[in-house]
Amino acid sequence: MRDSLPRPPVRFPPGIAGKRRKPWLRRQAILRRTLREIVDLAPAHLPEVVDLWVASWARTMPEIDFEARRPWLVGRLAELAAADVRRRVAFSETGEAMGFVTLDPANGWLDQIAVGPDFWGCGVAERLLDDARAIAPGRIGLDVNADNSRAVAFYEKQGFVKVGTGANPRSGLPTLILEWRRPT
Ligand SMILES: CC(C)(COP(=O)(O)OP(=O)(O)OC[C@H]1O[C@@H](n2cnc3c(N)ncnc32)[C@H](O)[C@@H]1OP(=O)(O)O)[C@@H](O)C(=O)NCCC(=O)NCCS
Repeated sequence: MRDSLPRPPVRFPPGIAGKRRKPWLRRQAILRRTLREIVDLAPAHLPEVVDLWVASWARTMPEIDFEARRPWLVGRLAELAAADVRRRVAFSETGEAMGFVTLDPANGWLDQIAVGPDFWGCGVAERLLDDARAIAPGRIGLDVNADNSRAVAFYEKQGFVKVGTGANPRSGLPTLILEWRRPT
């Protein structure tokens, strides 16, 4: 008997709707991966930036406990600010922090770059690097773990070349020293 009663129309709010609402969901997903702006890091951005740093590194080197390194990053970002290093954060159209980069305008050293794993491959890392290039004094230098193949591929694609080798001060793992020079 109960099954034969007419059912009221189901109205879902946007975001949890079924197939008929999917265009809206698709648009939201696109906006989430679309860069809106790159701005200087403000204290209010710090929790999100630390979260994305932990997530991106945990994906890159799952054998290391990056959760435990949160305080290290907070301290490092404070040291960089005290040394007049620029700290730039990319935000999506939906207001989410997508990634960040630090660049010393005095010598072009790039100490940190990280993009949240949800935003890998969508061009935001290149946009952050372009932002750093605009701040840099004609060159950018950095070191990268030699076995961080995704990052190395990214830098090579962006015109960096190997200028030396080294070792990570904490892990002892081999690093590559890479450099980009502004074309003259
Ligand atoms: C490094 C990082 C900022 C690059 O951002 P990204 O969005 O992943 O970069 P992109 O997708 O534009 O470029 C990565 C390239 O490596 C390729 N790639 C992916 N996995 C790879 C792998 N295992 N080996 C080699 N290349 C790989 C991608 O296909 C891509 O090349 P393509 O554009 O020609 O397809 C980001 O991966 C990140 O935050 N990593 C963790 C933190 C980190 O390693 N920082 C750098 C430390 S120096």
